[in-house]
Amino acid sequence: MIERPRGTRDISLEEMEKRKAVEKRLRFVVESYGYGEVMTPTFEHTQLFLEKSGPSIIEEIYAFEDKGGRNIALRPEFTASVMRMYHEGMRERPKPLKLYYFGSVFRYERPQAGRYREFWHFGTELIGPNTPEADAENIALAYDCVVGTGLKEFKLRLSNLKILYTYLDEKGIPDPEKNDIFHLIDKGDLEALSNYSFGEELIELTESKLDELKGYLKNTEPVEYLINVLNILELYGISSKDYEIDLSTVRGLDYYKGVVFEIDAAGLGAEKQICGGGDYKLGSIFGTDVSAKGFAFGFDRVVLALGDDLDSTIDKGPRCYLIPIGAESEEYTYTVLDSLRRNGIVADIDLMDRGIGKALSYADRGKFDFALLIGEEEIEEEVVSVKDMKSGQQKNVPLENIVDFMRGVYESK
Ligand code: HAM
Repeated sequence: MIERPRGTRDISLEEMEKRKAVEKRLRFVVESYGYGEVMTPTFEHTQLFLEKSGPSIIEEIYAFEDKGGRNIALRPEFTASVMRMYHEGMRERPKPLKLYYFGSVFRYERPQAGRYREFWHFGTELIGPNTPEADAENIALAYDCVVGTGLKEFKLRLSNLKILYTYLDEKGIPDPEKNDIFHLIDKGDLEALSNYSFGEELIELTESKLDELKGYLKNTEPVEYLINVLNILELYGISSKDYEIDLSTVRGLDYYKGVVFEIDAAGLGAEKQICGGGDYKLGSIFGTDVSAKGFAFGFDRVVLALGDDLDSTIDKGPRCYLIPIGAESEEYTYTVLDSLRRNGIVADIDLMDRGIGKALSYADRGKFDFALLIGEEEIEEEVVSVKDMKSGQQKNVPLENIVDFMRGVYESK
C-alpha cells in the first residue's frame, strides 16, 4: 500500500465544504477592500528564495535540480513570487497596487498537529504606499478577515521593528548582528540574549508597554509612528482592547522592516499562529526600493480553529435527490432535474437502477434534504412528490412551483 507523503493531507468531502466556505468569506472581505486576485507558479528559481532569506533557507524548503540542470524550489510562501511578478510586468500600474492570492505552499518542516509540509496561504500584498494609513489598513484588513470567518477567540499582537532597530543602532550594533539578535528574540532565547552587555535591558524593552517604550530610545520617531498607526486603527473600530503591543513579535523572515503583526487562535495549542505579516522590503532583489506591506493566513489553521462551529454556519441551499418510479417516469423526472440544476439548485438522480427503498436509503445516507419521487400519478397531476428527509413529511408540489419551493426553503433556512 502506497501512503501519502509525510506532512501532506487528503482533504475529505466534508473538510472541503468547510474550506470552500472559509475561502468564500476571506475572498469577500479582501475584495471589499479593493484587492484583486493573482496567481504565481508553484515553483520558482531557488535563487529567488536564497536572495530573500539567505542560504540557510535551503534547509527549510523543497529545492532540487530539474532535468535541465536548473535549481528549482517549490514556493514556501507567495510574497517573494508576487514581488517578482510585480517587477516583471506590473511596475507601471498605478499605486497602491492591491493583490491577493490563495494557493498551496511547501516547507520542509517537522510535521505535527497544525504544522504541515504542504499547506495553504491566503494572503495579500499592498505595493506602493509607505504611510501609517497603509500599515493601519493592512492590519485592519487581516483583523476583518478573521472576523469575517466567524472566529471569535483570537489575539492580535503588534510591533514596530524600527523600535528595536533604532535601539540596537543606538547601542552601536551593526546590521548583520542585529539580525542575529532578532532571531534570538524570535526564538525566545533569553539566555543567549542576556550574554549581551545590554541584554537584560533589551529583554525588558521587548516586554514593555506602549507608554514605556520611548524611555529606551534617544530617537523616539518609531514609537510615534506606531502610535500614529494605532490612532488610525481606531477609525477602523480596532482599539487597544483588541490588540497587544508586543515587541517580541519580530517575525522569522528577514525581509520585514517596520510595523509587523501576528494573530493567534486561542484554541490551537503549540501551532496557534494563524496569520503573520507587516511592512517589508524585497525590491532590492530586483533593483528597486518599492515599499510593500502584506500578510498571509495559514488557511489550514484557520479552518482548524473554527472547528465544528463552522458546520452550523455554512450557507448552503437544499440538496435534492430525484427518484423516478418506473421507466415511463424518466422523461418527466429528467425535465425536473434539468430545471432544478439550471436554476442553481443541487439536484442528483439515481444512476444505479435502484428500487425506491434503496434509493431512499441512499438519499438518507447521502444527507440529501429532499427526495423527489415521480411516478405515474405525479405525471398525471403535474406535481412532484417532495419528501423532507429530516421530518419524513411528504407533500405534492406543483411542477411549475418546484424551483420556487426549493428557493423558499433556501431562504427560510
Ligand atoms: P509566515 O508567518 O511564514 O508568513 O506564514 C503565514 C502563516 O502560515 C503563519 O502565520 C501560519 O499560520 C501558517 N504556517 C506557517 N507554516 C506552516 C506550516 N508548516 N503548516 C501550516 N501552516 C503554517 C509568510 O509566509 C509571509 N509571506 C506573510 C506575508 C505576506 N508577509 C507580507 N506579506
